[in-house]
Formats: sequence, C-alpha cells, structure tokens
Amino acid sequence: MQHPRDLARASIPNLRMPQAKDGAAIWELVQSCQPLDENSMYCNMIQCDHFAETCVLAELKGEVVGWVSAYVMPNDPETLFVWQVAVSEKARGTGLGTLMLQAIANRDACDEVTRLQTTITADNEASWALFRKFGKIQGSKLDAQAYYTQALHFQNQHKTEHLVTIPLTKAMAQAA
Ligand SMILES: CC(C)(COP(=O)(O)OP(=O)(O)OC[C@H]1O[C@@H](n2cnc3c(N)ncnc32)[C@H](O)[C@@H]1OP(=O)(O)O)[C@@H](O)C(=O)NCCC(=O)NCCS
Repeated sequence: MQHPRDLARASIPNLRMPQAKDGAAIWELVQSCQPLDENSMYCNMIQCDHFAETCVLAELKGEVVGWVSAYVMPNDPETLFVWQVAVSEKARGTGLGTLMLQAIANRDACDEVTRLQTTITADNEASWALFRKFGKIQGSKLDAQAYYTQALHFQNQHKTEHLVTIPLTKAMAQAA
C-alpha cells in the first residue's frame, strides 16, 4: 500500500525542461487544446531543442499534461515572449498554467528579463484569465493593445492578437 504522502505527490505534475524527443507528445497536447494554433511537429521539436531553457513541460504519471513555449526576444534580452500555453483538459483549473509561467520566470535564463509579453485574441477568456492572474501574483498591471491585426497582418484569416505586457518583479526571482 502506498503512503498517503506518495499518493498526494503522484497527483502533482512534475515540471521540467523539455528535450527534443518530447516534441511529438507536445504536438499532440497542443492539438487537443483549442483554440491554439497547430504548429508542425518539427516546430515543437525545435522549440524543445533550441529553447529548452525558456520552455517548460508538465508530466503526470508519465503523460504530458502541460506545456509553455517561450523565448527571450533575440532583439530584447529583457523580454520573455510566451508563444503558447497548453494544459490538458483533465489538468485545468488547478493552477498549472500559472505555475508553469512562474517556473520559467524563475529560471537562470531569465535573470535579465524584466517583462513578460504574449499575444491574446479578444475572445480567449481562459488565456486572459491566466495572464491576469499571473500579473496579479507579480503585483503588476497588465498592459494590452491590438498588435497583429486581422486586416493588416492576417488578411482576415485570423483574429487580431493583442500584445500583453506584464512587468516582472524581483520578488518572484528571489522566491525561486
Ligand atoms: C488557458 C489555459 C492554459 C489555462 O490553464 P489552467 O492550468 O487551467 O490555468 P490556471 O489553473 O493557472 O488558472 C488561471 C486563472 O484562469 C482562470 N481560468 C482558467 N480557465 C478559464 C476559463 N475557461 N474561463 C475563464 N477563466 C479561466 C482560472 O480560474 C484562474 O483564475 P483564478 O485563480 O483567479 O480563478 C488552459 O485553459 C488551456 O490550455 N486552454 C486552451 C489553450 C489556450 O487557450 N491557451 C492559452 C493561449 S496561449
């Protein structure tokens, strides 16, 4: 019989940096997480391989249940850009999305980072709620403005993406 402590631990996802071989499982998770854009399996593998230090994968009993792809902007080392956040349906509402964002912000690779940016479409309530909560934990005000627009950038094939900026506090880094 398992100790109750071990049973409790077994239900907490393990967070870690991805490896190239995780790309396929991440691709499958992203496919199941609408309304996320589906990238190629190759793209997810490159994210895992080249941007491992700023991406995080969450596993529960060997299954990938969470994923954040992010990178430090090549032209701005103070900005962490979050590309996608995906949490499998069964793991949602438990704080995993927020936890994964915090885990990346706390990494050594983000020592120079002072702000997080992402883009969100106006109708993605879950995503707004996630980043608002993350901003609240940071004690920061979230700034948002239309950035990649439906007419100009997407030729009317994709809704306008709003650029969201959240200043990161030093308190977060110290808590790591
Ligand atoms: C968005 C997503 C990553 C959130 O993951 P999660 O692990 O459930 O997030 P958390 O548990 O950390 O919740 C963060 C906040 O968002 C809120 N939230 C989560 N899902 C929500 C929804 N569908 N509608 C409104 N609020 C929601 C939570 O209530 C929480 O706020 P609270 O603590 O103040 O109540 C997940 O729903 C998902 O993968 N969705 C599909 C893909 C997607 O849209 N990704 C984001 C775009 S990059």
